[in-house]
Amino acid sequence: MLILGIETSCDETGLALYDSDQGLLGNILNSQVDIHAAYGGVVPELASRDHIRKIVPLLNALLEQTDRSLADLDGIGFTAGPGLLGAVMVGATFGRSLALSLGIPALGVHHMEAHLLAPLIDLPNQPSTPPPLPFVALLVSGGHTQLVRVAAIGDYTLLGESVDDAAGEAFDKVAKMLELGYPGGPLLAKLAEDGDPTRYRLPRPMTDRPGMDFSFSGLKTAVRTLIAKERSEGSASGALDSQTRADIARAFEEAVVDTLLIKCRRALTAADTQHLVLAGGVSANRRLRARLASDLGGVIHVAPPELCTDNGAMIAYAGAQRLQAGESAPLAIETRARWPITELRAVGDANE
Ligand code: KG4
Ligand code: ZN
Repeated sequence: MLILGIETSCDETGLALYDSDQGLLGNILNSQVDIHAAYGGVVPELASRDHIRKIVPLLNALLEQTDRSLADLDGIGFTAGPGLLGAVMVGATFGRSLALSLGIPALGVHHMEAHLLAPLIDLPNQPSTPPPLPFVALLVSGGHTQLVRVAAIGDYTLLGESVDDAAGEAFDKVAKMLELGYPGGPLLAKLAEDGDPTRYRLPRPMTDRPGMDFSFSGLKTAVRTLIAKERSEGSASGALDSQTRADIARAFEEAVVDTLLIKCRRALTAADTQHLVLAGGVSANRRLRARLASDLGGVIHVAPPELCTDNGAMIAYAGAQRLQAGESAPLAIETRARWPITELRAVGDANE
């Protein structure tokens, strides 16, 4: 089955072709970083407009790259939420209409389920090794920080989540405080590489009590306080020297990674498994990947970095799982800005 995946939930237009026998055939992405950089964050209306501009040229380029035509498609998966509604609607309207015109089924994909399944995508000449069920997934993106017990694809129990900011959001906000620009997370991670992890110690929020919920808002405030203190004690201009900025970035990253690690350990115990799927944009973070692999004491399943952040491949793959089971979307185009992952049904159950 050849599935086209379309991702437009935020500031990346991603399209991909996934073949259920041959794996991922092609994956193409246009990032809108340059458009939003001037504003220091994503401007929803500009995001929607650029998706409209890019979606057809990207589809044509993908078909050319993979030497396939529209007539070869067996189904289309598009992100239906959660995300910026206007942006989601571009991909959903395009995907649903294209499927109608081709007479093939289409399906609205849950963006976070797609992230969760990304480590399971079969890459060319590199089949994945799916974890045995049940397993635990840590979903860490710009909008979500959740620990989920996965009993089957689509059968999700929430073990814990952030009570305030998502981990990626905290990365982005701290990056802004350090005047790193947008997109903040990867820039902050890069700066942290030159930082001394022993100079500052920031709090590991909510780790001193039981439970698997997270809170990153207090950590953000702790960074703000630290920056203000260093500014007042530093040079006359109030500017931080580059080593101090790197040390603060490193202390923040260490605090986030430690916190995530402690909660993941609890989640594996709670779900009685050794297997952790690490997914979402923050799972591209090198230190997080390395620390979980070395210190968790379990087996980590994580996608290559380019499939951790938003992309069409994960939408094609997640769509393929459900389309193959006979699910399809009605002609009415349904999109959701908010959509709890626990509302999904197990693959195969949805038609009952
Ligand atoms: O999954 P994603 O691409 O979009 C959402 O669904 O939100 O995640 C984006 C988030 C942003 O907050 C970004 O700063 C963060 O992932 N991120 C990172 C890294 N790469 C992306 N955070 C830390 N280290 C990175 N290397
Ligand atoms: Zn995402």
